[in-house]
Amino acid sequence: MSYQISIQKTQNPKNKPDQDNLGFGQIFTDHMFIMDYTEGKGWHDPRIVPYGPLSLEPSTMVFHYGQAVFEGLKAYKTEDGRILLFRPRKNMERINISNERVCIPKIDVDFAVEACKTLVSVDRDWIPEAEGTSLYIRPFIISTDPFLGVRPSWTYKFIIILSPVGAYYKEGINPVKIYVESEYVRAVKGGTGYAKTPGNYAASLIAQVKAKELGYTQVLWLDGVEKKYIEEVGTMNVFFKINGEVITPSLDGSILAGITRESTIELLRASGIKVTERKITIEEIYNAHEAGTLEEAFGTGTAAVISPIGELSWNGKVIKINDGKIGETASFVYNTITGIQSGKIEDKFGWTVE
Ligand code: COI
Repeated sequence: MSYQISIQKTQNPKNKPDQDNLGFGQIFTDHMFIMDYTEGKGWHDPRIVPYGPLSLEPSTMVFHYGQAVFEGLKAYKTEDGRILLFRPRKNMERINISNERVCIPKIDVDFAVEACKTLVSVDRDWIPEAEGTSLYIRPFIISTDPFLGVRPSWTYKFIIILSPVGAYYKEGINPVKIYVESEYVRAVKGGTGYAKTPGNYAASLIAQVKAKELGYTQVLWLDGVEKKYIEEVGTMNVFFKINGEVITPSLDGSILAGITRESTIELLRASGIKVTERKITIEEIYNAHEAGTLEEAFGTGTAAVISPIGELSWNGKVIKINDGKIGETASFVYNTITGIQSGKIEDKFGWTVE
């Protein structure tokens, strides 16, 4: 598919932020990408325009029924001035998996990657260079029919915005305390857990608020039927190291197929570490802790990359992991993936795209 992206540059460029205090997702660059979809016409009018508010009728479908999908990926500037994206095709392939689940028309993967590259290139001066920072790219699609009946929309907007970011959690790469959630669930098989759609995140908030009130950073999600099998941690995939073996829940429909998850598995296997994807219960984790064989636990996701777990609280029982310190596997994965992302470590996997 070949489209011409028109570019309208801002007349009022904003001041760039202080790179040492970026936080996550609070600052946005000067431009955004927009493309429209109209039934019968397909995706059309790709354009880069100044970043700013959208004008939508209050009846716009996305506000009422949440028919939308999103992605997240990052751009890095290397020391020699190149700009690298990390596995961008994976995100655009996944957005189509999400699209299919919520009845949004698919986008052309190559063109969507091209749109990301073009937008990042226009706002290249916004890519922060300080250690641990990057330019977060947020592609998303919203349903835009002004209509209150429940059906798939006939019009959509595919938008990409950019945000210079630092660490996702204020703890950074320091281990976080996690509450094992036994009441609320994130997703069920047959539901939307494998899709990156806003409703999943709305449904997760109540447990996050509860965990915060109890002094925890996030929750560990259990399966929606037996509340026994571990699924995800917060908005991330989860890994455990027991007796030298790394274990992560297998993808069974209710778990998001994380790109950092896949990269972590590939990296560890290539380094000779045994990685198993299988069902794992919270009880098994507790028993491994009691037996002294639970070595590490950590979350993986684009936003935080790696977030080590220092403590799990499950039904009043506290599981302290690796003395609350970051483990060697989590450190290795974090350093290697961020090293590859930022061009400091040779990319033997072919993950980065210039
Ligand atoms: C990620 O870990 O990249 C996420 O999906 C979190 C994001 C929703 C901020």
